[in-house]
Amino acid sequence: MTEIVRTVTDLRTRVAAWRREGMPVALVPTMGALHPGHLSLVDAGLARGCRVVVSIFVNPTQFGPNEDLARYPRQETADVALLAGRGAHLAFCPSVDEMYAQVSATRVEVKGLTDGLCGAARPGHFSGMATIVTKLLLQALPDFAMFGEKDWQQLQVVRRMVRDLDIPVEIVGCPTVREADGLALSSRNLRLSAGDRTIAPLLNREMRRIAETVARGGTATAALAEARASLATAGFGRIDYLELRHPETLEPAGMRPARVFAAVWLGNVRLIDNVPV
Ligand code: PAF
Repeated sequence: MTEIVRTVTDLRTRVAAWRREGMPVALVPTMGALHPGHLSLVDAGLARGCRVVVSIFVNPTQFGPNEDLARYPRQETADVALLAGRGAHLAFCPSVDEMYAQVSATRVEVKGLTDGLCGAARPGHFSGMATIVTKLLLQALPDFAMFGEKDWQQLQVVRRMVRDLDIPVEIVGCPTVREADGLALSSRNLRLSAGDRTIAPLLNREMRRIAETVARGGTATAALAEARASLATAGFGRIDYLELRHPETLEPAGMRPARVFAAVWLGNVRLIDNVPV
């Protein structure tokens, strides 16, 4: 059974009891609508012998005014059942009031790494994300915190923030979990229409094609242009970005090492993915 707590006080009480027993603790921060990608993060905590806390909180401060906060899927009962099946120990499901009781005057900003990619397309997103992750880390004080590599930029931002603020936690990046056809798992995939679901895997195919071309010494510009054209023909909408960047600094990549990053709209769903070159 996975116990649910809704207050920071109860979370701290449970974690303190585990600490007294000498148990290490892993935190898996999520916004719910859990899928096998999230469950692989739970597995990573369990594999380290940890008591695993999964936070489920749709964080309003990381959504822009015209983004999908209201439409973001919420399914706590189903999520907690999935966590119980996987062996997670605790679900931390706070209300917005519990997390942001008073109007908060403090925001965490990570400069540089947040300038491009999703930072450019979603102003304020990373500051909201960094602020809530800092709060969650300070509330739970875990030994490990697990993040999926699908949100690669988020993972780099969190690593940097933890280093800069001396937060005593090890950030663990876990591989992206994909459908058999290559589509990266995401809670937002639930909102794809049946037709768009059949088109969606093309994004990963095109990204892998870019990576292979560049790895073989081909020109990135031509490969990126071909991929853009092919996505448009298939029915994808606006491309927020489709770029090669350095995997850690996230600066535009002149040479290897590099990673391909994309955020592309399909219907009213924004798909993101990244693949190594
Ligand atoms: O990746 C997410 O689901 C969110 O950005 C996170 C890390 C749970 C913070 O709200």
